[in-house]
Formats: sequence, C-alpha cells, structure tokens
Amino acid sequence: MRTKIRPITIIGSLIMSLALVNTDIADAAEVADLWPGKIVVAHRGASGYLPEHTLESKAMAYAMGAQYLEQDVVMSKDEQLIVIHDTSLDRTTDVAEKFPGRSRADGRHYVIDFTMDELLTLNVTEGFSLQDDQPEQNYPRRFPMGKSTFKLHTLAQEIEMIQGMNYSTGRDVGIYPEIKSPGFHRQEGKDISKAIIAELKRYGYTSKADKVYVQTFEFDELKRVHDELLPAAGIELKLVQLIESSDEWMLTTEGIAEIARYADGLGPEKGSIINSESSPDNLLISNVVSEAHSHGLQVHPYTFRLDEGHIPVYARSFEHMLELFFINANVDGVFTDFPDKAVNYLKSR
Ligand code: G3P
Ligand code: CA
Repeated sequence: MRTKIRPITIIGSLIMSLALVNTDIADAAEVADLWPGKIVVAHRGASGYLPEHTLESKAMAYAMGAQYLEQDVVMSKDEQLIVIHDTSLDRTTDVAEKFPGRSRADGRHYVIDFTMDELLTLNVTEGFSLQDDQPEQNYPRRFPMGKSTFKLHTLAQEIEMIQGMNYSTGRDVGIYPEIKSPGFHRQEGKDISKAIIAELKRYGYTSKADKVYVQTFEFDELKRVHDELLPAAGIELKLVQLIESSDEWMLTTEGIAEIARYADGLGPEKGSIINSESSPDNLLISNVVSEAHSHGLQVHPYTFRLDEGHIPVYARSFEHMLELFFINANVDGVFTDFPDKAVNYLKSR
C-alpha cells in the first residue's frame, strides 16, 4: 500500500529539519562555552573531506562547528589576494593542462604569473603529485581527484561568505589568514602583507577583540606587520608566529621571549610540543607551551590529520592524540583537516 504523504507531515518535517539545523549550530557554538580559550581551526577548510581551500570546504567546516577557518593567501599578477596554499598552482589545479608553456624554469606555474581572469578558468582538485608522469592523489582516501567542479577564490570572497554565514546563523566564526611567502612576493615586487592588512581593515577587522589571527612563518615579516603595517593602518590584530621544527631558536626560552614582544601566539609544528619519539609509556612534552603561557602567548600547533600514517605511535587514536595535546600538553587550539572530529572531541569530553 502506498503511503499518503500529507502536507502537514511535510511541513512538520521541514520545521523539524530546520530545528535540527539550528540546534546543531547552537551546539557548535557551545564549544567556546565548554572550553573557554580552546579553539578548533579548520586547516584549509574541512580539507579532509573536500578539496582544500575551496569555498565548499570552508562552508562544510563552518557547519561542522569550527571556531576559526584558515586562509593561506597568495597574490596574483593583478594583485588579487587568492586563497591557496602553494605559491604555485600545480599540486591543486589543472594549470599544466590549461596553460602549457606558462611554467617557470623549475617547471612550476606560479599564481603570481597569472591574472585573476586566467586563474578563474582553472579547476581545483584534491592535491596530487606526479609519479612517473602520472598524477597520484596525495591522500588516497580523501575526496576523489578531478571530480566535480571547484574554483579558486579571493580572500574577499571568502570573508564575505563567512561574514554572511555569521549573519544568517548568529554565530561569530573567525578567520585565520596566513601571509604566504612574503619574501618571495617582495622579490616579485609585491607587498602581500600590506594588501592583506588593508583587506582585513576593509572588512571590519580592526582590534584584538575581533575574531581574526594573522599568521606567517617569516619572523621579520610578522615583526614588520606589528611594528609598521598595523600602526600605519591604525588597527591592532592578533598575530601568530608560525614555527617550523627547523626554526629551533624560536622554540628556545630566549626565542619565545622575543616573539612575545610582538605576537599573541605561536603556531608550532606539533612535534615541537610532543616529541614524535614519544611512546605510550613515555610521553615527551616540551616546555614550549608552559613558556609561551608564561609570556601570555597562546599555542596553536599544526596539523592534526587522521589519514593513514598521520597519527603518532604514542597515540591510540585521533581523539587520544587530541586529548594528549589539549589536556596533557595544554595547547590552546589545533589546526586540523578534520574539524568535525576535534569539535566532537571537545563537546563530548
Ligand atoms: O598555518 C598553520 C599551518 O597551516 C602551517 O602549515 O604549510 O599547512 O600552511 P601549512
Ligand atoms: Ca597555513
């Protein structure tokens, strides 16, 4: 017998669905109440599920309850601020196919050699590298390479989408832009840091109370942002010094004290916090978090992934890894490709 669907049932279902959506969004916001000071940063969006730095991956991360969404920012030939991780296009787009002959001597196609109009003709895909001239997906269990249609976008477009969702949901999700390779941009005659600061000001990010952290790996550049660019723009923003494991001096007592003179936080590689040589019986936690905290610096290590081979041997699971970092090591936030898992961990603990 066919079930008769009554309009009232459909309307009821719709209302229930909307209630569920609203409830989920409210629940997501509760993470901040449950864990004041602890944040989940969606690394390149929900990049464990959709191609990194697409607007789709950002919308998904937003819906998953991340408190901050990350943007890596690179400049185009016509000085548009593009959200993309690499200064080159080869790992995440079909540029080699679309623009043969436009690579540099190293074989790469650089964002800075293309105009926005040209960049918009490219399709974005899950990251890949060439093995014997054949493209091979870097994370095989993630979104299939080359499927569907995704595009590059600007920092402004992403901020407008996040601010628009903040308006429509009542949440206050933040942004976490990274100034990518400022030295490289300078060599190419472009001041990417100045352009990013101007864009943030244009979109209303003007004080340390605003939901934005500006990050970069280059020590001198973050100092320049603090000492010159922000005062010149008449604004203040929270600044995070990214640290590669090889930048050992930044992780010393003196280095952390120096960084504290101009930054609000550290973004170290997670092995600098819990040594990857640790075992389940012997967890080697460094002094970085306690020293940073003693200077009032927050600590947001990167990058938490649950793909095969990315959970350290000292952790039983992705959630256990989060437990060790959030609780044992007392970090203030994590960059993760799987923001739903980190949000759920914090909500359920
Ligand atoms: O910005 C934090 C983290 O994203 C740093 O690594 O290379 O993914 O930008 P990367
Ligand atoms: Ca980054």
